Amino acid sequence: LQADALAAIADAERLEDLDEVRVRFTGKKSALAGIQKSMRDLTPEGRKELGQQLNAFRDRFQAAFDARREELGSAALRQRLESERLDLSLPPRRLAPGRPHLLTSVEQEIVDVFVGLGYRVAEGPEVEAGAFNFDLLNTPPDHPARQEQDTIYVAGADDVVLRTQTSAVQARTMTTQAPPVAVVCPGRVYRADSVDATHSPVFTQVEGLLVAEDVSMADLRGTLLAFSRALFGADREIRLRPSFFPFTEPSAEVDVACGFCGAADGRAGDPDCRVCSGTGWIEILGAGMVDPNVLSACGYDPSQVSGFAFGIGVERVAMLRHGVRDIRDFYDADARFLTHF
Ligand code: PHE
Repeated sequence: LQADALAAIADAERLEDLDEVRVRFTGKKSALAGIQKSMRDLTPEGRKELGQQLNAFRDRFQAAFDARREELGSAALRQRLESERLDLSLPPRRLAPGRPHLLTSVEQEIVDVFVGLGYRVAEGPEVEAGAFNFDLLNTPPDHPARQEQDTIYVAGADDVVLRTQTSAVQARTMTTQAPPVAVVCPGRVYRADSVDATHSPVFTQVEGLLVAEDVSMADLRGTLLAFSRALFGADREIRLRPSFFPFTEPSAEVDVACGFCGAADGRAGDPDCRVCSGTGWIEILGAGMVDPNVLSACGYDPSQVSGFAFGIGVERVAMLRHGVRDIRDFYDADARFLTHF
């Protein structure tokens, strides 16, 4: 029995097998248990002798069992360490981290310039009431800008539009805050334009509004010069050309000196320049002095305060800054374009 038991212990390959050997040789139904039971029928001397033999067997069994268990245990541990081995020298799997869209970073850059000048950021809804997008901005219901070929209306609602300009947020600001106010309004706007290289039915604006006592056109010019220089280069000149917007009077379109053909350095524009076509100037935004009608419609007193407003097209600035030739590139979600910036 002892030889069988020791052989079985030596043969056990796994801890589970070893346990089974223990039950088989020393458990309740084992030969050992049978022998123990039969001790009752022996003489005291016989009992004593058998008892000694059984104890010796148990000791030897236990010693062999413990030794084997330790062997198997450390083998199992070694195997586990081997199979769970981590190779810390492997290069990590490449993650493709997200990044801000070019329009987002240019919008942020523009906003930062004005925040640096003391403006606050104001935001409003893209689905907007005609009142904020048009009426309060001196653009009455019969104005051509409100025609369906220019403006996207929300079906089934009365005079609800996708905002055509973030000027709507300026109207919201003036109707809810007393002057002085200085806000920039970044965001998406929508127009019923068909798509080509320079038009998109959705685009991005940063508009600005300053209303306070004695704000003049000179303040507007200085502000826009600071903006142009921050974005396009420290020595750039700007010029204001007379223009028209319903909500400003006078109104201007603002050009920055072309930096692509050297006109910014005081030279004449290069007739072959693909950006300014030789004029030496690039149009970058619309602006003007807030029309007194707009101030009164929004509850301000035009005899007490005056102001200026401007509207910057973010796509246009991004195209000029980064040499993007087609506005559709911003909206095509082509990863090659997106990861380039
Ligand atoms: N809202 C005008 C536009 O979208 C831009 C603008 C803003 C012009 C403010 C003048 C003053 O075209």
